Amino acid sequence: MTQGAIPNHVAIVMDGNGRWATRRYMPRVAGHKKGMDALRACLRHCGERGIKVLTVFAFSSENWNRPAEEVSGLMELLALALAREVPQLKTEGVRVHFVGDRDALSDKVRAGLVQAEADTAGNSRLVFNVCFNYGGRWDIAQAAARLAAKGEAITERSLDAALALAHVAAPDLIIRTGGERRLSNFLLWQAAYSELYFSDKLWPEFDDAALDEALADYAARERRFGLTSEQIAPAADRKAA
Ligand code: FPP
Repeated sequence: MTQGAIPNHVAIVMDGNGRWATRRYMPRVAGHKKGMDALRACLRHCGERGIKVLTVFAFSSENWNRPAEEVSGLMELLALALAREVPQLKTEGVRVHFVGDRDALSDKVRAGLVQAEADTAGNSRLVFNVCFNYGGRWDIAQAAARLAAKGEAITERSLDAALALAHVAAPDLIIRTGGERRLSNFLLWQAAYSELYFSDKLWPEFDDAALDEALADYAARERRFGLTSEQIAPAADRKAA
């Protein structure tokens, strides 16, 4: 049983920024800015709760099809995050990784991502994966293509090691805010045994208390990984039963 457990790895689909802004008669980009504030607070709270890995979906492969103004707003937010947030994260023991297809990004942004990763490479308190221009299908395809190019056999183990998130274990808990109940091409391979938690709160409103609720829900679940309850119960529990 994993009752009372804090997840090692939490992943989040930060959905609802657009609706948060639209309801206030603001441009959608204002919602993403507010979402950035929520993300900053969430990252801090994850550290306080002892979570070791946080992975967030910041820009999907499909988000390019959004209105040009929103796409450029999200690119600007990324540039702002690199300039303003990363120096702070460096002092807080956070190691940043950017996960996704970098080919479509500008040279300047690409160089910024490399720099941010290098600047925080010595940190180990919390690993922060920002999925940007990421899609679960893209990741599986690029991993398979890399193995094929090297003439390596495609097995579960080799594919797992070639994925863009190979540096961390699979997420224990995947949270999606904004009321939708789907993965939308996020961590398709890694989600095989993840616990899923859906919140009706819009991402800018997902505060410390909301994260604690998700963690409490997770802690009450029994993760069986295909086994039976009896198989996973510690021997002491079974004797007492
Ligand atoms: C989904 O909400 C959210 C996004 C596509 C972007 C998430 C980005 C942030 C929280 C800011 C952090 C960004 C970086 C670069 C680190 P939505 O727009 O689909 O909301 P809706 O469903 O209400 O329209």
